Amino acid sequence: MNASDRLASLMPIVIKDDHLHARWLNTFSYLEYVGFRKIIKSQRADVLSRAFLNHALEEGGHAFLLKNMAVKVGGKDFDLYTPETMLCAQAASAYFQNLDHGCDEKFASLPDFERSKVVYLYVTWLIERRALDVYGRYKEALGASALSAQLDELLGEEVGHLRQVEAGLAADNPDHATHAPGLEAFEQGLFETFVAALAQELAPARPSA
Ligand SMILES: [Fe+2]
Ligand SMILES: [Fe+2]
Repeated sequence: MNASDRLASLMPIVIKDDHLHARWLNTFSYLEYVGFRKIIKSQRADVLSRAFLNHALEEGGHAFLLKNMAVKVGGKDFDLYTPETMLCAQAASAYFQNLDHGCDEKFASLPDFERSKVVYLYVTWLIERRALDVYGRYKEALGASALSAQLDELLGEEVGHLRQVEAGLAADNPDHATHAPGLEAFEQGLFETFVAALAQELAPARPSA
């Protein structure tokens, strides 16, 4: 089973338990918040365009939306990002930080300004594809529900981010086809590590075979 299917197989276990479900939502809210923070910090202010600002604000909006959903499902304890209100918070954070550092190392030979641009494009490209996969499958697992409907706008914005970053890669990075497979495999490995940590954390809640 690949990591995406494995994660999807854990979703029903999470969704049927309000406390776990709120922790799940708060974990993804946290990852959106980290994305928001990283986008803002990734570029010098003099080159921070409307598109960058809009992307950051939309990721901040996703963090807020998922946080609101976490509070609705789990109560006001989920207003903060304390470790006990998330699922394997360290592994979630490591996924994002390692992806960022790995992409940064891959382009270490470039001058700072160019590197920050290309790293932003590749990290965004990898994250948006993963986000669409995870949120899409989560929406499927929720079925027809009020929570599921709240994800529509978020999913639409993630599609927009992916299209924008694909256009950026096509315009600025003619070597995309050369770099893409290695970076995809790198992200896949990090995601597998995160899903394994999540599966371990959820093991006590899983029905025994
Ligand atoms: Fe997002
Ligand atoms: Fe996004």
